[in-house]
Amino acid sequence: MNETAASLHFVFEVQGGDFNKAGDASSKVKKILQQIGADSTIIRRVAVACYEAEMNVVIHANHGHVSLSADVNRVVIIVEDEGPGIEDIEKAMTPGYSTAPDSVREMGFGAGMGLPNMKNCSTEMEIKSRKGVGTTVRMVFENA
Ligand SMILES: Nc1ncnc2c1ncn2[C@@H]1O[C@H](COP(=O)(O)OP(=O)(O)O)[C@@H](O)[C@H]1O
Ligand SMILES: [Mg+2]
Repeated sequence: MNETAASLHFVFEVQGGDFNKAGDASSKVKKILQQIGADSTIIRRVAVACYEAEMNVVIHANHGHVSLSADVNRVVIIVEDEGPGIEDIEKAMTPGYSTAPDSVREMGFGAGMGLPNMKNCSTEMEIKSRKGVGTTVRMVFENA
């Protein structure tokens, strides 16, 4: 089944720099997946990856949204933002690589493990980015 044929679709806004609301979109995604009775392993993987992607918008971008398309066996998360973009995606994927400022590190973020975790948690991940424009991350989650 592809996105268009998915049984459910939601979009949640994410505001860059808003650490008070950070994580809200991923919490809502998790609740929806629990309500539709999605596989618990998939829910855990989506929750972790979606949280990391949402935090990247909060930490690194200006504004964005998380979109969820789901049925019981397949979840697609697309996180799209307006922001500085990622110049070198391969470098950004390196475990431990982070450009997060000290102010963000002091809050416990910026370990540089977000993108590698997202890759590990998802069945398929694709990043598209344009410097000075923004970034789109698409992740697909399926049962192994
Ligand atoms: N949405 C984004 N917009 C701009 N840059 C990003 C975005 N997501 C990730 N990056 C870049 O990739 C780096 C690595 O991301 P990540 O692995 O999540 O680590 P962290 O968020 O802890 O820095 C970030 O430090 C940043 O330079
Ligand atoms: Mg991150």
